[in-house]
Amino acid sequence: VPFRHELMKGLSVGQSITVKGEVHQNAHSFCINLRRAGSSDIALHLNPRLKKQVFVGNSFLSECWGPEETRVDIFPFAAGQYFEVIILCEGQQFRVAVNGVHLMDFKHRVQDLSCITQVEVLGDVKLLSVMIG
Ligand code: GAL
Repeated sequence: VPFRHELMKGLSVGQSITVKGEVHQNAHSFCINLRRAGSSDIALHLNPRLKKQVFVGNSFLSECWGPEETRVDIFPFAAGQYFEVIILCEGQQFRVAVNGVHLMDFKHRVQDLSCITQVEVLGDVKLLSVMIG
């Protein structure tokens, strides 16, 4: 079942989104999406793929996936394990850390951050909390 959290005023620089959860046993993948509510646009798609042990970042804009950013050298997720993802919204990029370790900088592809109004979590994960700071 997808989880969606609406941001009242959209994102702004300096805000952070913390997602805490537990990866399902035998998980294939899950994702955390920062979306433009009421459209199909995803400003940031974070997609840990457990079987391949790859962490993918991307956008989905105007019905198209963009170029993938991947991280294969560090993969901090494991089936059945607790994790904390922190997405810090900076002026030029999203800074992503998992379990306190920096994992990815994702340059903004959507320039108007105030349009990003929804956090969505999908896939093989038990969601424990989403906090907006
Ligand atoms: C595709 C996948 C999508 C999304 C995208 C990211 O292969 O089907 O769910 O993860 O990659 O680039």
